Amino acid sequence: MPSRYLVTSGLPYSNGRLHVGHIAGAYLPADIYVRYLRACGKDVRFICGSDDNGVTIEISAMRAGSTPQEVSTHFHQRQKQDFAGLGIEFDVYGGTHQPDYQEIHEHLSREFFRRIYDKGYFTKRRTKQLYDPKVKRFLPDRYVKGICHHCGDHEAFGDQCERTGAIIDALLLKNPVSTITEEPAEVRETTHWYLRLNEFEKPLKEWLESKQGQWRPSVLNFALGQIKQGLPERAMTRDIEWGIPVPLDDPEAQGKVLFVWFDALIGYISFTAALCAERGEGVEGYQHWWCDPDSAIVHFIGEDNTVFHALIWPAMLMADERHQLPAAVVANNFVNIRLGGDAEKVSKSQTPPDSPVWVEEYLKRFDADALRYYLTAIAPEAARTAFDPQDFVVRNNSELVAAFGNFVNRTLTFAKRYLDGRMPDAADQTERDRKHIARAGETLAKVGGCIEGHRFRAALEELMGYARLCNEHFNAREPWRTRKDDPTDCAAAIATCIHAVQHLAVLSWPFLPRTAVRLLEMLGLSDRAVRWQSPTPLAAGHALGEPEILFTKLEPDCMG
Ligand code: MF3
Repeated sequence: MPSRYLVTSGLPYSNGRLHVGHIAGAYLPADIYVRYLRACGKDVRFICGSDDNGVTIEISAMRAGSTPQEVSTHFHQRQKQDFAGLGIEFDVYGGTHQPDYQEIHEHLSREFFRRIYDKGYFTKRRTKQLYDPKVKRFLPDRYVKGICHHCGDHEAFGDQCERTGAIIDALLLKNPVSTITEEPAEVRETTHWYLRLNEFEKPLKEWLESKQGQWRPSVLNFALGQIKQGLPERAMTRDIEWGIPVPLDDPEAQGKVLFVWFDALIGYISFTAALCAERGEGVEGYQHWWCDPDSAIVHFIGEDNTVFHALIWPAMLMADERHQLPAAVVANNFVNIRLGGDAEKVSKSQTPPDSPVWVEEYLKRFDADALRYYLTAIAPEAARTAFDPQDFVVRNNSELVAAFGNFVNRTLTFAKRYLDGRMPDAADQTERDRKHIARAGETLAKVGGCIEGHRFRAALEELMGYARLCNEHFNAREPWRTRKDDPTDCAAAIATCIHAVQHLAVLSWPFLPRTAVRLLEMLGLSDRAVRWQSPTPLAAGHALGEPEILFTKLEPDCMG
């Protein structure tokens, strides 16, 4: 394992509220990964921030009768609070157009563009582009929609097919209409700078093939499939106002900005630089993370971002030759929601505004860790899954409350009631007790292996499997019976169970951070520096904290 990790989560567009699907896709698994790595003693930086530039934000501002700056600053703040509320703790939450980050971000993005330009990887091309004559604007990306030229019967935007994530050539869309006026789009001429991705087909293919067996097959199959079809050149400039001006003296570059994906990806670097500056390491400190092979760069993203992270971004990095390539790109599928009938996409217009699938709404009424648990349990690691409020309640009640919480509660209340609230003497531990603790150690190793392999769902299943064994162990040892006739056996049984609770605090740390802290409190421990190893059993006589109810039981229809 490398000793240093730079972990990123896809930058959310700052034009709306976050929902459970966003969290399950790029943020929660990354946070789990980071917490685990830190517990293993690794040096980690966890980078994210808002994607503020480009067409998407411009369109949102236009619809809201506001400005892109206002919209992006507003949602940047709200999204940041959502993450904090869920215990997703980035080291830096930047923003490509936010006051504290914009300058460094624009500087690094312009330099990056210039370097690739100077190496001759861009083709300046006079091209045809869709245009809305009514508002006199070109229609890049999401400004135009039509029938997908790959799958034929689905609606696609000018940049990407909503269904398959494939790259779209807007001029090939059938029946293209402007998303501003809903009027048919016309074709006009304009000039743009195209990155010749085809020049990187061979090195990209070799690089991706070297990741076979390590990366998720979905990512590799998608990216290699795209290379097989041939990578088209892609314009890295746009005819819109909101973004980073194209850093060329050419008069034809006037009034144009960088393609939002070009600058957003560089956001990972510029936010790292801002963080280094903040920590007194100087902006150049980012090179320690980006240019030194002892540091592994791991990107967590949603499925629709795969083409950008597995092809375009590495091609940009190869063209620039300054930074290392990602060690891993971990893409999750979408999470749909099941509110009554079929599973559907969460949508601003269709999903009720007070539905708890919006993170803000969820956090008003429920515990963060319960959502972290459920979203990991249904993690869309190999296929799309559905957030089902009924299922959420069932799993909360039967797994967190009835298995995990119950074991902790019966152990710690027993100790409080009958053993003076102290760690009892473990001298009379049985073979079964020792096996149970050995099993906890094995669980730590298994969970760790799963997390390192980005199999978070399997990791959580291991954890919960151990929590169930804990209950079985408690039942088998019958401390309520031995309490009177064999107190030393009872003491050993409870000491074993308390040691198991110590293990549960470590095991739950990456997944359920607040639960882990509460467990440490209930165990009477003040040290919050969790290490991924079997904790030393508490000394006999150690004063435990107050036992409390760990998870809240939920009513069947509480989610509406
Ligand atoms: N804003 C994009 C989305 O939500 C993700 C950008 S990831 C980045 O799909 F790294 F490129 F910023």
